[in-house]
Amino acid sequence: MQNTIAGRGTTEDDITAEVLRRFEATPDPRLREIMRALVGHLHSFVKDVQLTEQEWFAAIQFLTETGHTCTDRRQEFILLSDTLGVSMVVDLINHRKPEGATESTVFGPFHRDGAPEMPAGGNIAPRDARGTPMIVSGRVLDPAGGPIAGARLDVWQADSSGRYDSQYADSDDLHMRGQFRTDGDGRYLVRTVRPVHYAIPDDGPVGRMLRATGRHPWRPAHIHFVVSADGYEPVTTHIFDDSDPYLDSDTVFAVKDSLVCRFVHHETCDAAAARFAIEPPFDTVEFDFVLTM
Ligand code: BEZ
Ligand code: FE
Repeated sequence: MQNTIAGRGTTEDDITAEVLRRFEATPDPRLREIMRALVGHLHSFVKDVQLTEQEWFAAIQFLTETGHTCTDRRQEFILLSDTLGVSMVVDLINHRKPEGATESTVFGPFHRDGAPEMPAGGNIAPRDARGTPMIVSGRVLDPAGGPIAGARLDVWQADSSGRYDSQYADSDDLHMRGQFRTDGDGRYLVRTVRPVHYAIPDDGPVGRMLRATGRHPWRPAHIHFVVSADGYEPVTTHIFDDSDPYLDSDTVFAVKDSLVCRFVHHETCDAAAARFAIEPPFDTVEFDFVLTM
């Protein structure tokens, strides 16, 4: 004789239907939509791959370790989202730009608040003696191509050994970061060192995931910007070095063609170098940001 109560479903699909039903009364319609889609996709995934109990437990251990790896200097969940391409899908859905506007890309885990405000030509890399000096310049423009005066540029990058300041355990100092304003013609000018490609932190669970799946941890050389101005949509973006070997395999999928720039190498002095007392060899890159309303 069966000792069960009639009417309660016991198949996988019955469980999925019952879980979905329990979320039906969620008062916030957006939360209801998200929870029901999440449950639906999650259950489909488990059924599709016929997940074993060992695999399910390994996934829970992986996520637990991802949380334990987070500190005030390291955000392993952002890294996981980035390496799974989720950050870029969220970016693309949320920042569809009209033709000609500067495209956005991942924020990444290395932005820090409080970068020093600097005048035009300020050096964000004063302690990086090994790097090749570089001048980054251009304009911030409105959609019609007119200059935006007083636009803010929050700039950050890794140093010439491929590390961000927060990755140096022995220092809390801000380095390789600065905040700039455009002049009356919308022009900005940043002095730095040429960025290099670097590996994202791969000594944690995300690194294990990359190795287990035969993926590399490299990002092509880039400089990060958040560009903003009153009355315009801010844009979070990078500019990339067009000679970088990792442009087509960025481990966080963040390269967009419109953000790839010509980094020009100079062996002799020119007016800009003379103005900032930069000894050759040095590099330059020019990029105009176009903001939308
Ligand atoms: C970065 O460019 O700083 C970055 C972006 C995503 C993951 C790791 C690093
Ligand atoms: Fe970066």
